[in-house]
Amino acid sequence: MRVILCENYEELSLQASKIVASQLILKPESILGLATGSTPIGLYENLVKMNEMGEIDFSKATTFNLDEYYPIKKSNSQSYDYFMNKHLFSKVNINKSKTHIPNGEAIDPVKECEDYELLIKQHGGIDLQILGIGQNGHIGFNEPDFNLNSVTHLTNLTESTIEANSRFFESREEIPTKALTMGISTILKSKKIILLASGASKSKVVGELLNSEINTNIPATMLKVHPDVILICDRDAYSGVRLGVDIGGTNVKFAVVEGNTVKFKTQTKTEKESFEKLIKTISQQCIDIISQYKIKTVGIGTPGIISNGKVKATNVPFDNVDLAKAFKKYIDLPITVDNDANCAALGEAQLGVGSQYDNIVMITLGTGIGGGIITHKHICDGKTSNGEIGHMIINAVDGIPCPCGQKGCWEQYASVSALIRQATNAALENKNSTLYSIYEENSNQLNGELIFEAIDAGCPVANQVFSTYLDYLAVGIKSIIKILSPEAIVLAGAITLQNDKIITPLRERLKDYDVDILISTLQNDAGALGAAML
Ligand code: F6R
Repeated sequence: MRVILCENYEELSLQASKIVASQLILKPESILGLATGSTPIGLYENLVKMNEMGEIDFSKATTFNLDEYYPIKKSNSQSYDYFMNKHLFSKVNINKSKTHIPNGEAIDPVKECEDYELLIKQHGGIDLQILGIGQNGHIGFNEPDFNLNSVTHLTNLTESTIEANSRFFESREEIPTKALTMGISTILKSKKIILLASGASKSKVVGELLNSEINTNIPATMLKVHPDVILICDRDAYSGVRLGVDIGGTNVKFAVVEGNTVKFKTQTKTEKESFEKLIKTISQQCIDIISQYKIKTVGIGTPGIISNGKVKATNVPFDNVDLAKAFKKYIDLPITVDNDANCAALGEAQLGVGSQYDNIVMITLGTGIGGGIITHKHICDGKTSNGEIGHMIINAVDGIPCPCGQKGCWEQYASVSALIRQATNAALENKNSTLYSIYEENSNQLNGELIFEAIDAGCPVANQVFSTYLDYLAVGIKSIIKILSPEAIVLAGAITLQNDKIITPLRERLKDYDVDILISTLQNDAGALGAAML
């Protein structure tokens, strides 16, 4: 399912009308499947305008509507027959005899459905089907059920649909409780489908649709088996309020995001005693936040490797565990899990310094080197978690052994731990240097800050070490640029707080490459914010 994310309802209607218009231009005798409801009204308004301007022609088109209440008189202002005439048929040059809507006045509704199904078949099926989505995931009037009827049929409407429709009727008694509707297979036989979702009331179901496996409880998930479905939705329907959780070895961070705005952030200590205890404490915190902020979806960033939905990590008690399933025991919302470095990259790409680019690579410099690759604003995922750029081999001849089992991994040369190791060796070899004095004054230890203290004091040994470190850093970045051709590289980690001292000489080393070198603006929050955006 492709997603077209629109800023607002106007853009959604425009995008949808462009698709319908192209269909009619390419094939004037198209068979269109039409929907009613509030969502496609803007689309129909645009089509009417395009028809008035002579940009599209309905004269050869045939239409089949998805559904109709049963029983209902065509003259009833709430009938879909009435709706279609009001919003489209009476305003465009369509041949009225080529428009079809299940007959809400039919004496024999079962026969009416059989005939309707046959008529669609006789026309060679639907070329482009327009769908809305109910808050419970219905499409047409295929309501959540154990078993979904595949062809056009008479159906009972659920309480929630009756409730949602009550806004159109004066009294509850008037609201129809049954409908005639195309079935799931009638819909799936369409050659192309566009599904429209607008407004915050749809955000929960859109989240469920995108995050759930195919299941009859959310009928719209059936669309996932179709090869050509486009979900066109606006930001309110797409995002809602999201909770992101970044599980780290020391702290668990939480962030609430609405649209692109960060509403709330907090963190707790990581409860590492047991898997169950950790899940329970994180879930409890989530439940508090969920009730306060009316959260619609939860994203979890985890350390370690994710393979077939199972997480294996070393710094938290995750030994091949299905995290989404574990959290689902406590949290009744769509939950998505991804690797923490991927989440950080997504956070930076959507909410941070990378938000103006489509393709970025985020590099986190710390004990090791973490990485996340974003292509076209999405995490680039492989078979297992992706972006292990720290383990790119940059020295094949006499490479430093890496705990991963390889030799010569980039992080053995360009991580902050590597810098400290290189500086310590240089200090010991140059006992008359400022770097060595600082090392001695600090109980024979160096850290990132102390190395910069020596650089600031003008120590040539420290400067040389840092210059070599930058060469190593640049070498890896050059390979990344060559392979992935990102628009920007975003660097994160405490060392990048040195700003100009690292970014200026690094840009100098990469000046022949057409890429922006930037420092993360979200830093430690990137993981939780990105998890929220999953
Ligand atoms: C209408 C239809 C329904 C609606 C759905 C959403 O023909 O089949 O599935 O698309 O109930 O309705 P709105 O757009 O009013 O939210």
